[in-house]
Amino acid sequence: MKVLVSGGAGYIGGFVARALVERGHSVVVLDDFSTGHRGALGEWPLVELRCGDTEAVAAAMEARGVEAVVHLSALSLVGESVRDPGRYWRENVGQAAGLLDACRRAGVERFVLSSTAAVYGEPEQVPIVEEHPLRPTNPYGATKVAIEQMLAHFQDAAGLGWVSLRYFNAAGAAPDGSLGEDHAPETHLLPLAFAAALGTRGPLTIFGEDWPTPDGTCLRDYVHVIDLAAAHVLALEWLEAHPRQSLITNLGGGAGTSVREVIDAVARASGREVPHAVGPRRAGDPAVLVAATERARCELGWRPKRSSIDEIARDAWAWHSTHPRGFGEEA
Ligand code: UFG
Repeated sequence: MKVLVSGGAGYIGGFVARALVERGHSVVVLDDFSTGHRGALGEWPLVELRCGDTEAVAAAMEARGVEAVVHLSALSLVGESVRDPGRYWRENVGQAAGLLDACRRAGVERFVLSSTAAVYGEPEQVPIVEEHPLRPTNPYGATKVAIEQMLAHFQDAAGLGWVSLRYFNAAGAAPDGSLGEDHAPETHLLPLAFAAALGTRGPLTIFGEDWPTPDGTCLRDYVHVIDLAAAHVLALEWLEAHPRQSLITNLGGGAGTSVREVIDAVARASGREVPHAVGPRRAGDPAVLVAATERARCELGWRPKRSSIDEIARDAWAWHSTHPRGFGEEA
């Protein structure tokens, strides 16, 4: 299949492009480098456009014979989305509408969306099943709910087949250290813990130790970015077998890991102490977020193979120890 990967210069997009190529598909990356990195790209063709630029994107897809789209480009910082909701709605929802119009114009009928556990909000029960009510507690999650609804509208209007992948906590890197996570600003737990261990930033702050969990810190469902990427390949193959149909599925390892357990895993992987202090809770954090993973297993045949916290931390260390300043400056 010839696949356009929007956001293919981003953290997860870079791994998705690699996984597609490894599986024998051909890839065209669409990215405007607003948050992506040229260093994340492989030897595949690049279209440098905003994904919502309908006419230009449709022309590029037609010229290159694109048959499917994996859409990862988005603003994805929860706190920023609370402060600047208009930007999130314009960028995430508006750009997705433009991209879907481009698909329609170019006759592309397979679409995979990068969605998020943030669509659920505060969980009523864990593990969280896909039927759980959608009550996002921030604009970021709300924009992903809106895009999922928009996909259903394009399915009705234009026969689009689509899969929405609701990621839990993506983490990890390539085991050879060649590709990994680099966000500006960085807000995620593992990169901040490694930066604290390396001394490139100050001590990590644990956001609360008074949660109703076994060690008092929040539980999250960490999933290796290589496992996540593999699910995108399976989603495209599902769409090939189920034309014009749709599927929404969680992607998580299915186990909860506490912030303290992550810190211990980072210390084991790096062989260093992780300087840290306990601070107040972060607004909007649920105590526990863990995915029910049966649907991904049954429908896609997906099995996370590398998502133990020690494997995630070991691979992340291969990246952070060789790229202490991300793509900007190699050690
Ligand atoms: N945490 C800390 N200190 C930090 C950073 C994080 O204690 O400096 C804690 C958080 O409170 C949370 C856990 O580490 O319990 C993980 O936090 P992240 O910021 O790494 O990830 P989130 O669970 O907040 O967010 C992830 C994705 C979002 C997505 C969200 C769904 O990164 O894109 O899950 O709820 F929206």
